[in-house]
Amino acid sequence: MIDRTPVESILNGTHAAGEVTVYGWVKTSRSGKNVTFAQISDGSSIRPLQVVFDRNRFDDLSALATGACIKVTGKVVESPGREQARELEAVSLEIIGPAGSDYPLQKKRHSLEFLRTIPHLRVRTNTFGAVFRMSHHLSMAIHRFFDENGFYYVHAPIITTSDAEGAGESFRVTTLPLDDPDLKKGIDFADDYFRRQAFLTVSAQLEAEPLAMALGKVYTFGPTFRADPSDTRFHTAEFRMIEPEMAFFDLDDDIALIEEFLKYTTAYLQEKCAEDIDFFTRFYEKSLRERYAMLLNADFARITYTDALELIRESGRNFSMAPEWGCDISTEFERFLADEHFGKPVFVTDYPASMKPFYMRMNDDGRTVACTDLLCPVVGEIVGGSQREERPDILHRRAVECGIDPHRYSWYFDIRRWGSAPHSGFGLGFERLLMYYTGMENIRDVIPFPRSKGRML
Ligand code: 4AD
Ligand code: MG
Repeated sequence: MIDRTPVESILNGTHAAGEVTVYGWVKTSRSGKNVTFAQISDGSSIRPLQVVFDRNRFDDLSALATGACIKVTGKVVESPGREQARELEAVSLEIIGPAGSDYPLQKKRHSLEFLRTIPHLRVRTNTFGAVFRMSHHLSMAIHRFFDENGFYYVHAPIITTSDAEGAGESFRVTTLPLDDPDLKKGIDFADDYFRRQAFLTVSAQLEAEPLAMALGKVYTFGPTFRADPSDTRFHTAEFRMIEPEMAFFDLDDDIALIEEFLKYTTAYLQEKCAEDIDFFTRFYEKSLRERYAMLLNADFARITYTDALELIRESGRNFSMAPEWGCDISTEFERFLADEHFGKPVFVTDYPASMKPFYMRMNDDGRTVACTDLLCPVVGEIVGGSQREERPDILHRRAVECGIDPHRYSWYFDIRRWGSAPHSGFGLGFERLLMYYTGMENIRDVIPFPRSKGRML
């Protein structure tokens, strides 16, 4: 094991006594009269470590350039500067990986648009360091929450034969030779790798349901793919979805769990990521701290789809689309409800069955389903969930109405055939939640290597 002291431990004073060795990347360096100062970052903290090089000891510091990777050994001393309590007095320096003046991150601040063109380097900036540290802590919070609440973490397949959401937004998986002119005459999927059509998963839900029907409470947290036609700052082709599925939960239980879950992750990040949250508050979203307080303290609102449309109508606003029963809750309606009217997250429930997938449980009115979307201020929909249709005859009828061939999903119908039970679940978009917690306004800025329509490095 290398003897490597994390910058974080020096800054907070928990490092071992005596000389320490730090490995990191040079953010900036500047020379004074007799000394050179370098700011070193190693990912452990948003704050860099100041290293002081006495030029009587180091005569050539030309390689101490922005972007270079260095190993430096020295003594931790109290810093006379106001910026930091401690700094490192260098005794020896080794350049591990040099960087020339063509290193792209020379300026103090670059635009997010520019940084999107260099995803392999932007993680070295303060912003992206903070984003991915928070991404880690959010992932841990998610696993902890479910573990502490009796859920099992299960893995759903990435290659599937189903389009769970019925939205036709799946990427196809095939080994057929696409450049073969014979293919133009017609595709026979019997010749394909799986001998049938296969796709990248758009949701783990259908596979999570059978697992919940044996293990009780399960969750998945896996890659999800959508060839979404909407290329907005909230959509990406590859993202992570958290999908819990619970036997014996109805919609009310589902909604209570979503709120409890979000309060838990909020409190966890607030405790673990104080400095990164301060950074985002300072540079990206002035009201981020209030956002955390609101999430922790407010009771989330709840309204049916039908009543939400009534509210929108009563507002007397001129929306670009008329709020007619059966219409989508568009972005401007989301904004009105979550940002303006409630000013906090709102569960919109009981949408028209015609707008939703076949698996959602039909309500007694025969025209709405037991489902919810959670709309948050600023980011809009972050969760979609529902009680599942556990009655085999109704499920069958709904599948046929939605143009789904029950034979293709026979295993899914089997769950209703033997030991069917009421159950519910939800899907939460990890990246959208991370946007909400960091104040980043574009989903491409919370994903290390984003993939979206027409764009991929
Ligand atoms: O509302 P959705 O489509 O729900 C489902 O897929 C259900 N099967 C989930 C379940 O009940 N297990 O997607 C759930 C969430 C959305 O609310 C959103 O946060 C996120 O997934 N999401 C996307 N995030 C980024 N880019 C996209 N293209 C997304 N599509 C959905
Ligand atoms: Mg949805």
